[in-house]
Order: sequence, then structure tokens, then C-alpha cells
Amino acid sequence: MAAVLEARDLVIRFITGEGEVKAVNGASFSLEEDSILGLVGESGAGKSTIALAVLKLLPSTARVESGSATFDGLDLMQAGEDDLRRIRGKDIVFIPQDPRAALNPVMRVGNQVEEQILAHTELSKREATNLSLQSLREMGLPEPREVVYRYPHELSGGMCQRVVLAMALALKPRVIIADEPTSSLDVTIQAEILRYLKAYCKDQGSSMVLITHDLGVVAQMADQVAVMYAGDIVERTDVVNLFHSPRHPYLGALLGSLPRMDREQRRFAPIGGNPPDMLNLPAQCPFLPRCPKAINECRTEPKPDLVEMDPAHWVACYNPHESASVAGVT
Ligand SMILES: Nc1ncnc2c1ncn2[C@@H]1O[C@H](COP(=O)(O)OP(=O)(O)O)[C@@H](O)[C@H]1O
Ligand SMILES: [Mg+2]
Repeated sequence: MAAVLEARDLVIRFITGEGEVKAVNGASFSLEEDSILGLVGESGAGKSTIALAVLKLLPSTARVESGSATFDGLDLMQAGEDDLRRIRGKDIVFIPQDPRAALNPVMRVGNQVEEQILAHTELSKREATNLSLQSLREMGLPEPREVVYRYPHELSGGMCQRVVLAMALALKPRVIIADEPTSSLDVTIQAEILRYLKAYCKDQGSSMVLITHDLGVVAQMADQVAVMYAGDIVERTDVVNLFHSPRHPYLGALLGSLPRMDREQRRFAPIGGNPPDMLNLPAQCPFLPRCPKAINECRTEPKPDLVEMDPAHWVACYNPHESASVAGVT
């Protein structure tokens, strides 16, 4: 299948008073046309850094040392501000974790949705108003004709996120990058918004990178999954394969302590130890100190590369779990 967004070997650092934070250490993934890629990992793994890098929205303390991110053949890392402005908000949209941060606090929400539409289309003011009302209605906002006159602080978090979604999705983007879009919302609204996002992607043929720390969300939403650990993608495959036949010990540990994927059990289960200090990453596999399956090679060799161990199943590990097909499990 064709990739609509492709990241290759991204290496990203933050320059801080304490040294260089090695936030992303050579991440590659591709987002296929008409599909949802779950980017999953513990807090601090580098997920948001990747999202912001692709959108060229990293703070000035960040440095993209190497790598590329290509949208429709255009390398976003090399693209000029004009191209980026044209693409961002229309072809590629960003949905942040905190919807209030994405909204202007001193502007009525209706005007914000309208402005976004006017900035990227040739529509008249009246057409933009109609489109923004329609988009707000589709997002399940009650009384959109009334909501448009409100300011963000007059709306609940769930309503703000619906406004952000209306703004992002009104122009039918090809790529949605959603960074934990529902983790600040309560569970019922979370489920509703995720269901809507998935249906939207399937109906419109849009693709989405969905960032989450929640394996339940991945199971429910994703077609493909990339698992991050300490700035690396350590496992990448389709969602069925990932849950059926996880091969990286990190994922094995997480899933092993997840007997059922029901609502109470679906958080990342705590595993022993802590993720490494991103200021001082070891040369070896960063999961080594926590790994139940470590072998001698893991201690003596540099960190393993991500390699295709089974068809369309990439794993970065010297001693992975056997694949389910090899182990005779079906
Ligand atoms: N602005 C920043 N300055 C310095 N370090 C940062 C900054 N943003 C993120 N980091 C660090 O980069 C690493 C990756 O962070 P992040 O991409 O936010 O992870 P995630 O989204 O997976 O939780 C972490 O170690 C985090 O502390
Ligand atoms: Mg994050």
C-alpha cells in the first residue's frame, strides 16, 4: 500500500542546561493511505517529539539532527514556511492533548473555526460560516448555532476538543496527527470521540497517526502499530499480529500482565524498573536493565537495529519471543 506520510531515521535532541536529551534516536515509520497507525509507548518515550517534528512545530531548543519526513513526496524537514503553512491545517492537521491550548482564549469559537476555513480555501464568509456550523454539528456539539458565540473558557474540555476536531476536520485532511487526543477527557467522552475519529478516517479515506500510552486504545483504533521505548521504535507490525504474537520483551512484559483487554485492565501495566535517563542513554539496548529475556549479546553489543523478523513484523531485539506461528500457536 502507498505511504502518505513517511518518516526515516529521525534523530531529535533537546538542548538543555543539563545536556542533550536524546528524545528520538533513529525512528522510521510509514503511514499508509487510508489507515490508522498507533504510536504507543510510556510517557517520555518520544511520541510527541516525533509528532511535533513532522509538523515542524518543535520548540527552538530542539534539533533535528538527521532524518526525513515525507508527505506526498515533499520532505517536510526541508520545506519552506510557505509550503508548511499551506499544508498544515489543511492536508496535515494536528490534534493536541490539551484542546484549550489549541484555541485562542479571547476569540469566539465559531470565528476560530471559520478563520481556519477561510485561511485555506476560496470560500466566501457565508460559505465558511455554513461549513463551520456543519462541521461543529458533525462533531456532535449540541446547539452549534449557540456554541459558536462562546469563548473556550465557557465550554467543557470535551466540548473544546470537539471544536478543535471541527476545525481540524472541516477541510477533510489527508493526514491527522492526534497526540493523546482524549487522555484529558472523561471515559465516556473519550470513547465517543475515538469512535468518531475512526469512523471519520474510514469514511473520508483519511489516515491518522494516533499517539497514545493506552494499549486498549491501540487495540480499538489502529491498523498498524509502532511501539516506542526510550526514543526508539522497538516493534512495528499490524495490530492483530502485535497482540497475537508480540516479539519484543517490552511488549511481552506489558501484555503478559494484561490478562484481558477490558476497561479496567487496559492501561499500560507497570513493569519493574524505570525507563533510562534520556540525557545519558547507554550504548546497549535501552530496555536491558528491565528486560526479563536479556542474554549476553544484549550486554556486549550496541543496541539492536529494527529488523524484519517475520513478514511485515519489525523488531529491535537480540532475543525476541518466538513468533506465534513458530511456536505452533494459532
Ligand atoms: N521542550 C523540551 N525540552 C527538553 N526536553 C524535552 C522537551 N520536550 C520533551 N523533552 C524530553 O524528550 C523526551 C521525549 O519526550 P516526549 O516526546 O514528550 O515523550 P512522550 O510524548 O512519549 O511522552 C523526554 O525525555 C522528555 O523529557
Ligand atoms: Mg506526549
